[in-house]
Amino acid sequence: YPSNLQMEDSSGLRQAMCRAKGGAPGFKVAILGAAGGIGQPLAMLMKTNPLVSVLHLYDVVNAPGVTADISHMDTGAVVRGFLGQPQLESALTGMDLVIIPAGVPRKPGMTRDDLFNINAGIVRTLCEGIAKCCPNAIVNLISNPVNSTVPIAAEVFKKAGTYDPKRLLGVTMLDVVRANTFVAEVLGLDPREVDVPVVGGHAGVTILPLLSQVKPPCSFTPQEIEYLTNRIQNGGTEVVEAKAGTGSATLSMAYAAVKFADACLRGLRGDAGVVECAFVASQVTELPFFATKVRLGRTGAEEVFQLGPLNEYERIGLEKAKKELAESIHKGVSFIKK
Ligand code: NAI
Repeated sequence: YPSNLQMEDSSGLRQAMCRAKGGAPGFKVAILGAAGGIGQPLAMLMKTNPLVSVLHLYDVVNAPGVTADISHMDTGAVVRGFLGQPQLESALTGMDLVIIPAGVPRKPGMTRDDLFNINAGIVRTLCEGIAKCCPNAIVNLISNPVNSTVPIAAEVFKKAGTYDPKRLLGVTMLDVVRANTFVAEVLGLDPREVDVPVVGGHAGVTILPLLSQVKPPCSFTPQEIEYLTNRIQNGGTEVVEAKAGTGSATLSMAYAAVKFADACLRGLRGDAGVVECAFVASQVTELPFFATKVRLGRTGAEEVFQLGPLNEYERIGLEKAKKELAESIHKGVSFIKK
């Protein structure tokens, strides 16, 4: 393992020097949990992203193998691997963006909240590392239950004195990706032409698709609204059951995570008009965190958009979502405060 890493490092150094001469822009990105079901395809796709100059792959198992494999791809990013807690600080130092898919996934019959006890501790440890080694990095948090892990991360950063709400984003992109796909199927459109805002949170009834705001403008029958809302809210469970005990969504999640990370990097670069949905600190409702569209810029989520006009069906959904979200947020905050 060490000799493999040494080789990567020296060739990486030469590549980095070549790039410095050419002046190509690039960001340093770390993936924590890079050897997992999401982490591996996520690492592969990030290695193909031209905005990434350095890619750090951290996990408590199998990081060397994944790193050796991905480092052979003939794309620009220099890849380095980090194995286990003693290497966490090296993995994080100097990073612009940290993506966290570390933790256990659901099995059939489990809710995302059933993962709380294991994943809460993992997220706490990783965020303590971020606060120490790259306090200015943008954080994309994927580990479930996102409705609680984002408040946990916020409390860890507050304790460390590094909290900037703009830089902490819970990844709800998979809900948007699913919504675009399912709505396009019903409308007979190409999913790439469809934009469905999905607000609230990332679990069951907290996932609230705003079908009245779909672009291009369209209308649905009450049956279609019921079908689409249920399918979007239970898309994760559909995959968990189909995988029959071997895990939850990994490939579509990696795709969604890359789509979201790429938007964050374009924002960091200074591109105008980069807007995606994410679970962030928010004043849109009375809750301290809520998912809505946000504008991504050089400092993270620079603008949090309002919900826009809701119909009666969506207003009822919003009340249900807020009730469950309030409990999940409270659970995350108390985990750190106690
Ligand atoms: P997995 O079990 O295949 O991979 C998780 C990886 O995390 C493993 O390689 C494991 O070694 C690593 N890990 C465990 N403890 C760690 C630690 N302390 N530091 C670093 N790495 C650690 O799980 P999978 O399928 O990749 O899912 C990961 C997480 O993503 C789960 O919590 C899952 O619920 C969540 N998820 C979130 C979605 C979202 O939309 N936000 C969608 C799908 C899954």
